[in-house]
Amino acid sequence: MSNHESDALVLFGATGDLAQRKIYPAVQALIKRRGLDLPIVAMGKADWSLDRLREYIGESLDKFGDGEDDGSREALYERLAFVQGDYREKDTFERLRAALSGRGAPLYYLAIPPSLFPTVIESLKPDRETAGARVVVEKPFGRDLESARSLNRVLRENFEEDAVFRIDHYLGKESVQNLLYFRFANAFLEPIWNRNYVSRVTVMMMESFGVEGRGKFYEEVGAIRDVVQNHLLQVVAHLAMEPPVSRGVDALRDEKAKVLRSIRTTTGRSLVRGQYDGYRREQGVADDSNVETFAAMQLHLDSWRWAGVPFFIRTGKRLATTATEVLVELKRPPQAVFAEPRDGDSNYFRFRLGPDRVAIAVGARAKKPGTNMVGEELELYVCNGSEDEMGAYERLIGDALGGDPTLFTREDAVLEAWRIVDPLLKLSTPVHVYEPGSFGPASAESLGRPRPPEAARATP
Ligand code: BG6
Repeated sequence: MSNHESDALVLFGATGDLAQRKIYPAVQALIKRRGLDLPIVAMGKADWSLDRLREYIGESLDKFGDGEDDGSREALYERLAFVQGDYREKDTFERLRAALSGRGAPLYYLAIPPSLFPTVIESLKPDRETAGARVVVEKPFGRDLESARSLNRVLRENFEEDAVFRIDHYLGKESVQNLLYFRFANAFLEPIWNRNYVSRVTVMMMESFGVEGRGKFYEEVGAIRDVVQNHLLQVVAHLAMEPPVSRGVDALRDEKAKVLRSIRTTTGRSLVRGQYDGYRREQGVADDSNVETFAAMQLHLDSWRWAGVPFFIRTGKRLATTATEVLVELKRPPQAVFAEPRDGDSNYFRFRLGPDRVAIAVGARAKKPGTNMVGEELELYVCNGSEDEMGAYERLIGDALGGDPTLFTREDAVLEAWRIVDPLLKLSTPVHVYEPGSFGPASAESLGRPRPPEAARATP
């Protein structure tokens, strides 16, 4: 692993949506907190002046930054250069070279449509002058297994694997890292964290908003490519993995890849797709679109620890609330000692991964005061806080600049994740229309009715 610091940040897609929502605020935060001081070369097709770009960044920081103006905004503007051009033209990359003025270890960040990745990657191949270059590739990494393989080939022909950073911002989330920490820094979980005690696991990512002006992008991806292939399968890997054998970067990534390898190829019966009523009227969306904005699926892990335990994934846009939660439900006690219905609540661990709040809670039963031995469900908080002030993008861009690949997805894991979802993408499963503000199509209940996330229940 080469751990030199990158000496310039080159942002492809500088006038795009992701740059505005996530990347500029993260760069500002890096300037603020870590004193980031390097040239920032913004690359874009739009015929903008540098002043127009600064305005755009200003709007981004107003809307998505932390609001405080402590000079970091000016510092960002001062380091900024803009190279406008078509990525298919050689001349664009010659002007990029000139803007880098001899910096030999740039970090290229590709926040551009996947269809442009190969063209841009081939034009960035490091040579003597840019030997220390690294590249960050945004998700979705390809469109399916085949295109992901071919993208990996292009990357490998042009960059060493340790210079490639496949970004998935869920891996940079404090709450997702806390899953690992909580599992492996405590001894009490290990005896029950397996098929003997766990009855089912649900990973649920609900969003109350729609595609928010990203209709054109969403038409090319849909919920499965947008969040299941990457974010949600990564969460499953964190929940199901074995402890890494060492602290080395690859020990962790080996275990996560092993989980993905153990996931059985899914069939049509384990998938429900939905589309919110009104999606077809969104800008950039076809009148007869069959793209899913909701997906529910059941996964089987063929491993000693998890054989027979269903893992459910459920995600959708324009649902009743915005919350990402994991629920690990435990089996019921073997005997009914108290005269209570046997089909009541089971014990569970609940991990809230965001937004805004992070929680780890345990659902347990306790006796209600009184002469009868009847109880009620209580939720004990073992950890309750707000999302850490360091955002996922800030963390990950900082790591990539320093050459640390721990929180980035390795080639084999990306391919395994595509192997899992690829057959689902090729199925013509019907797309059920659901009401905005609901929990998704009723047909998804065939895959188990999940407990609503905390935000949709009464908050304690
Ligand atoms: C992005 C998806 O990767 O993740 C979006 O493209 C989704 O559709 C977003 O809304 C959710 O991320 P977070 O961090 O807000 O849960």
